[in-house]
Amino acid sequence: MPTSRKGDGDLSPVAISAAGLRKSFGDKLVLDGIDLRVPAGSVFALLGPNGAGKTTAVKILSTLITADSGELRVGGHDVAVDPQAVRAAIGVTGQFSAVDGLITGEENMLLMADLHHLSKREGRRVAAQLLERFDLVDAARKPAQSYSGGMKRRLDLAMTLVGNPRIIFLDEPTTGLDPRSRHNMWGIIRELVSDGVTVFLTTQYLEEADELADRIAVLSDGKIAAQGTADELKRLIPGGHVRLRFSDPAAYRTAADVLREVTRDDEALSLSIPSDGSQRELRAILDWLDSTGIEADELTVHTPDLDDVFFALTGPANLPKQPEENVR
Ligand SMILES: Nc1ncnc2c1ncn2[C@@H]1O[C@H](COP(=O)(O)OP(=O)(O)OP(=O)(O)O)[C@@H](O)[C@H]1O
Ligand SMILES: [Mg+2]
Repeated sequence: MPTSRKGDGDLSPVAISAAGLRKSFGDKLVLDGIDLRVPAGSVFALLGPNGAGKTTAVKILSTLITADSGELRVGGHDVAVDPQAVRAAIGVTGQFSAVDGLITGEENMLLMADLHHLSKREGRRVAAQLLERFDLVDAARKPAQSYSGGMKRRLDLAMTLVGNPRIIFLDEPTTGLDPRSRHNMWGIIRELVSDGVTVFLTTQYLEEADELADRIAVLSDGKIAAQGTADELKRLIPGGHVRLRFSDPAAYRTAADVLREVTRDDEALSLSIPSDGSQRELRAILDWLDSTGIEADELTVHTPDLDDVFFALTGPANLPKQPEENVR
C-alpha cells in the first residue's frame, strides 16, 4: 500500500485516497474535484449539510457508482481498474437500511454469510458471534421489521461485518438514533477501530465527528471547505479567545486599562483576548502579560466548537446556489 505523504512524518499506509474526484448528475455538479486521504486504522468523518454529496462520495468510493474523473484508491486498489478487489476489501453500511424486514435478524445474517461464500457451518458461527456482539441474541429469531431503529442499525452493521472487512464505510450510522443508542454505536465503532479497521463515516452530527474522527472533512458546495482534526478545524475560524478572570476589582481595572485592545466584561471581572489557541499565540500573550506585570486569577483558553466551524464553512454564503431561472 502507498504511504501517506503529508510531510509531517505520518508514514502510515493509506486505506482510502481520492485525488480530483468529480461527479455530476446531469448538469448538476455534486463533487467538484475532491482530495481525501485516510490513513489505515483511522476514523475519517465526511461532514456536510443535506445534499452536499456525502452519500455520492461513499457510493463512488465503494464502487456502487462511478466517478466522472479522479484517481481513487481503496485498500491499495484502483477503484476504476479493479472494483472487484475493492469490493472484497470493504464493507458498506448504507444510509438506508439493507435489512430485509420480512425475515429474521438471524436469517439476514445467514444471507450475508451466503453472499460471502462462507460454509453453512462457518456462516452460523460468524452470525452467532456477531449477533452476540451486537446484543441481538434475544431478537435474532424475530422478523427484523419488528426491531427498533437502533436494533435495525446494529443489525445493519453486523451484516456489514460478516465478511470481516478491514475498511468500512458508514453512511450516517446514527441518524435517527436516540442518545443512548448513539453512544452504543460509537462504542461499537471504537471497538472496530481498536481492531485496526479503517472507518470512513459520514455524519451531520458535529458531536459525532468530534467524538470519533481522527480527521474531519467538511463538504460544502461540491468542495472540501476544510479538512483536519477537530481541533485544527476549530482553530480555523475566529471566535477563539483567551479569558483572564480577576477576583479583585482593582486588579481587574488596572489590567483593563493596561490591556486596552481586549473585550471587557465588567460584571464578571474578565477580559477576553482574541486568540487562535495555538501554542505560539498563547506564549505571546503570556509574555505580554508578564511584561505588563498583570497576574490574573484564572486564565482559560476558549476555542470555537465544531458547530461554529460548520456554520462558518457551510453558512448561507456557501450553500449551493439556487438554480437560476432560465432566461433565454
Ligand atoms: N442518482 C442521482 N441522480 C440525480 N441526482 C442525484 C443522484 N444522487 C444524488 N443526486 C443529487 O446529488 C446531490 C448530493 O446528494 P447526496 O445524496 O450525495 O447528498 P448527501 O450529502 O448524502 O445528503 P444527505 O445528508 O441528505 O444524505 C443532491 O443534490 C442529490 O439530489
Ligand atoms: Mg446521504
